[in-house]
Amino acid sequence: MPKQTNLIVRSPAFLYREAKKVFELHCEQVPLAKLAARFGTPAYVYSTQAAQFRFKALDQAFDRVPHTLCYSVKANSNLSLLRLLHKMGSGFDVVSGGELERVAQVGRRALQNTVFSGVGKTADEMDTALRAGILMFNLESESEMRLLAERAHRVKKKAPVAFRVNPDVVAETHPYISTGLREHKFGVPMADALRLYSAAAEQCWLEVRGISVHIGSQITSVQPFGEAMARVAELARELLNRGHAIRYIDSGGGLGICYGNGQGVEQELSVTAAAYAQALIGPLRGLDVHLLLEPGRSIVGPAGVLLTRVLYLKKNGEKRFAVVDAAMNDLLRPSLYNAYHEIVPVERRDGTGTAKVDIVGPICETGDFFARDRKMPSLEEGDLLAILDAGAYGMSLASNYNSRPRPVELLVQGKKVKVVRKRESIKGLIAYEK
Ligand code: LLP
Repeated sequence: MPKQTNLIVRSPAFLYREAKKVFELHCEQVPLAKLAARFGTPAYVYSTQAAQFRFKALDQAFDRVPHTLCYSVKANSNLSLLRLLHKMGSGFDVVSGGELERVAQVGRRALQNTVFSGVGKTADEMDTALRAGILMFNLESESEMRLLAERAHRVKKKAPVAFRVNPDVVAETHPYISTGLREHKFGVPMADALRLYSAAAEQCWLEVRGISVHIGSQITSVQPFGEAMARVAELARELLNRGHAIRYIDSGGGLGICYGNGQGVEQELSVTAAAYAQALIGPLRGLDVHLLLEPGRSIVGPAGVLLTRVLYLKKNGEKRFAVVDAAMNDLLRPSLYNAYHEIVPVERRDGTGTAKVDIVGPICETGDFFARDRKMPSLEEGDLLAILDAGAYGMSLASNYNSRPRPVELLVQGKKVKVVRKRESIKGLIAYEK
């Protein structure tokens, strides 16, 4: 058994082990170099243990209140991950007919714990969700409410609903993923809520069940969550006084993770989760409601890496580049949000010095980068790199830009590896075209 070191403990699931004087990055018990040799690169590699650990840590933080974690499928919609979380008791948050079908594949019971979010649900999607018997539709406008009432009448199934209210709180995060301000397209204004709930109560094909809120994503302070919840709790009390049966409060997702090179993210999670739980549960005191949460990133983010190989090293004047075989189509976050992802060599050779490089993909855009002026241990062509914290909004945001097949997805458990999604083929990519 190779000796374990704690050189990098971003997540206990990914760590270096010493083998013959070199330190090799492993996912659980499996060397990443072995996976690259067997399945090629780029490849997404997920750790079962990390996903399970994170789900449990969040779930346990809310133990003292009736609650359900409805994992947000958009973060990573791989069926095997959904099955894994379902087995641990997770419900789901979906935003499209496609995501709903994924949950249906996981099992009928999973549908009963599924909430349907999103500003633009279509009539077809509503029909499917009604027939599936989901837990709750989170409505985002009066027009949507009217359409849902119509579809429910047609399908002859009462639609359980909540309104997603816009609490107008500031949450510090990237502007593209902040959602809880008046100027954002999401939710209905707090000031309209009482009127909308009355209108919904008059519709005999709608059943008012709850209130939902979601203020954004990658939020690393718990304060805005607490503020939003305080406003929602106040609304819940008012609605209950008026005779609406508010049984569920859906607090959305959004708890951030640490993308920097801090140590021991996993240990921190229970602490963060406790503070998060405190912020959400506090305002609900005295309310007899079931809390729903829609975490995505906080569960799967640190549970995955994108494995890529250095194709070429080049120098343009003083500027050094490492061109790797993954690109912005595989992991869009750095290009789209200027997001920081820690990048580490799969094999650590000590004493080779460091240099600043741009780590870039082969796509024909200057925005195709994973890191700029990043201090890295000296790289060689052929080296493998792991882009960390890529389990959330990695593969789910991947595209076929530049006609690039999307990467293979691998799920590791102990010493075992499963291909949970095949690498796409070029033939497959063009099969839809005549
Ligand atoms: N619930 C709703 C209604 C949402 O809109 C989202 C995320 C979630 C839950 C899950 O949020 P989480 O716990 O994962 O933060 N592509 C961006 C993130 C977009 C988030 C969209 N909504 C990124 O890569 O940072």
